[in-house]
Amino acid sequence: MSVPNHQLSCLDCSSKQEPSVNDLYCAKCGGLFFVEYLEASDGTQPRLPISDHSSANSLGEGDTPLVFLEKTGEELGLGSLWAKLEFMAPTGSFKDRGSAILTTMGRDLGVTEFVEDSSGNAGASLAAYAAAAGLKSHVFAPASAARGKLDQIKIFGANLHQIEGPRQAATDAAEEFVKKHGLVYMSHNLSPYFSEGMKAASYEIVDVLEDGIDHVVLPVGNGSLLIGMVRGYQELLEAEIIGKIPKFHGVQAHAVRPLVAALNAEEWTHDDVLPTNASGIAVSKPPRLAEMVDAIRITNGTAVTVSEESLFEWQARLAVSEGIFAEMTSAGAFAGLEKLIDSGVIKRDSNVCVPITGSGLKEPLEK
Ligand SMILES: Cc1ncc(COP(=O)(O)O)c(C=O)c1O
Ligand SMILES: [Zn+2]
Repeated sequence: MSVPNHQLSCLDCSSKQEPSVNDLYCAKCGGLFFVEYLEASDGTQPRLPISDHSSANSLGEGDTPLVFLEKTGEELGLGSLWAKLEFMAPTGSFKDRGSAILTTMGRDLGVTEFVEDSSGNAGASLAAYAAAAGLKSHVFAPASAARGKLDQIKIFGANLHQIEGPRQAATDAAEEFVKKHGLVYMSHNLSPYFSEGMKAASYEIVDVLEDGIDHVVLPVGNGSLLIGMVRGYQELLEAEIIGKIPKFHGVQAHAVRPLVAALNAEEWTHDDVLPTNASGIAVSKPPRLAEMVDAIRITNGTAVTVSEESLFEWQARLAVSEGIFAEMTSAGAFAGLEKLIDSGVIKRDSNVCVPITGSGLKEPLEK
């Protein structure tokens, strides 16, 4: 790799460390890292940890359509409602933005084989990008993950490890496997590189709508989209391309709500988890929870829970009235939007953008 344009900085004690996909924790205090750039942003494009864009491991991710949801926006009484169609990515979810960056960094730092755990979409995405970069991958996913996601992981040639139990069990099994075999754990949730790929989504929205969005409502599990998009907006604000950052509102299933609980000082722990159909956000112990809380607070946003029934209702409503087949997790963002409007947090006449993070095509309608 040529001279790096960044270093890793500990979120907790600010210790610095050289770029790495292997060192996930600060050697001094055990904290997680963020990417600290050694140059200022000019706001024309997101700062990225890769120095040579022409050799990046890309499958054509990004530049997703931004569509105006006229009917739904009117029914909800909004000034405008925009959907960023993140499911129109090479592997059918927003994760491809992060996989492009993480696998490029891994490849350029000499990784040939890595371990990852995922609810399904990130595993499918990283498996594809690993194939394209010529890397061997081991993906740990819940045995209950949607068939379409597991099929993707397999067809891309990854070693798929299906783990019984909740989402956290796949993480625990991946960590054990890493220890046992001495492999690189390129966790997309622990590595700071994955969310850097999400910044471009904010740039793309600003390219079309400039300062015109008041609120972004999005599903939040481990927070890569939330953290990355807010950072993208911060870069644009610092470069004076925009004058304000929209309020970011995180949506979680009532069944698994660590972010909502943290923001509302509610006592809620991993032991309170209930089953949910929003598999992408069924994350009970997100390692970057403090960063997620900060991202919401910096924008003066909120977080809200949604019921299981509302996921189904909104999945059907988007399909029938807008022609959009969103995965259940992604439909949940609209259920959250409706609640935020009903409670007055989002005022009628506001301008709202909802990223539709994953495709309904991967999930059977009935399990
Ligand atoms: C469709 C979908 N939406 C949202 C999320 C949540 O993303 P994050 O973990 O970055 O918060 C996921 C994560 O798996 C997902 O698959
Ligand atoms: Zn530290």
